[in-house]
Amino acid sequence: MRVLVAGGAGYIGSHTAVQLAEAGHTPIIADNFANSSPEVITRIESLVGKVEFHEVDLTDRRATAELFASCRPDAVIHFAALKAVGESVERPLDYYETNFGTLFSVLGAMKEAGTKILVFSSSATVYGGDHPPFTEEDEELVALSPYGYTKLASERILTDVAAATDLHIGLLRYFNPVGGHPSGTMGEDPRGIPNNLMPYLSQVAVGRREKLTVFGDDYPTPDGTCLRDYLHVMDLADAHVAALERLAKGDISVRTWNFGTGKGTSVLELREAFEKACGRPIPYEIGPRRAGDRADSWADPSRAEEELGWKASRTIDDMCADSWRWQSMNPRGYGQ
Ligand code: NAD
Ligand code: WQD
Repeated sequence: MRVLVAGGAGYIGSHTAVQLAEAGHTPIIADNFANSSPEVITRIESLVGKVEFHEVDLTDRRATAELFASCRPDAVIHFAALKAVGESVERPLDYYETNFGTLFSVLGAMKEAGTKILVFSSSATVYGGDHPPFTEEDEELVALSPYGYTKLASERILTDVAAATDLHIGLLRYFNPVGGHPSGTMGEDPRGIPNNLMPYLSQVAVGRREKLTVFGDDYPTPDGTCLRDYLHVMDLADAHVAALERLAKGDISVRTWNFGTGKGTSVLELREAFEKACGRPIPYEIGPRRAGDRADSWADPSRAEEELGWKASRTIDDMCADSWRWQSMNPRGYGQ
């Protein structure tokens, strides 16, 4: 299939573009580099050969419609969004404009071009229940930030659109994607101080940050630190291929799938695994809790296994090893 990867220069999109090509599909990447670098395209090409790339602001409806008219994709995987929870609280309008703007442009352009398949990046951030594991049928959903609201509302918008059209839509709820391509060619490259745990650990290991601050050790968990369902980005990239191929059968209007391993790992456990992977000490201190963090979160990933034949296969040690390979080979990320 010719697959438009909207936001394909980003962290998850770049790995997905590579796995699409490996699976025999043709990725067509569109991005405006709002949170990524042109170097990513060079890296993708070093792995899978020449790819079609278009520099487009996907909030621009006309430019997006022209893009679809020229490339005529069979399907779209829509990653293009802003994703920092804290920043979304400070700049809500930017988040609403970008995350809804790109979605509306893509839906409008799909209609004009006759593209029927859409895979959408949602997030485990929508789960509001007290106790994991979370299943797709949980009805207690929350929006604790403007970012979270864009995901919750986009899921609703897409459900309404699916009911009124003949589109085939997948809503993919990711848990905590980490790691990089096993070659060390691609990985996560946040701008500024990392918000997320794995890139922070990597930057401490490579000497860019002095030490990790653990946000609270008084949670009701075995070691007092928060539990999360970390998922290898290569497993998540494969999940997109599986969802796309399932939707292409044409019998699904809209369906939600969780992507996680089904296991919780604590902050201290991840720090220890990373130390083992990089062979260097990762100094840390215990700090106060971070506002908005929940104690624990992990997926019930059984629906994806039953319906897509997808199951995460990479371990926490693989995730740490591949994050470290990426960071040590590219100490300054895509800036090298
Ligand atoms: P990312 O920031 O690395 O990738 C997003 C890409 O979209 C970037 O390359 C950015 O330049 C591009 N983009 C943003 N605005 C654009 C616009 N107006 N026009 C064109 N391109 C634009 O983020 P990611 O981690 O790869 O996340 C991808 C998707 O998955 C996002 O929708 C995010 O909300 C969602 N998600 C991410 C996580 C995570 O932990 N990384 C978890 C759950 C869901
Ligand atoms: C993991 C754990 C922190 C940094 C976020 C978004 C979520 C989703 C994925 C997009 C927590 C602790 C972290 C540090 C720490 N993104 N931590 N010191 O918060 O589970 O999820 O990314 O949809 O919406 O909220 O991931 O990596 O930020 O944190 O102790 O310097 O690590 O408190 O317990 P989170 P994270």
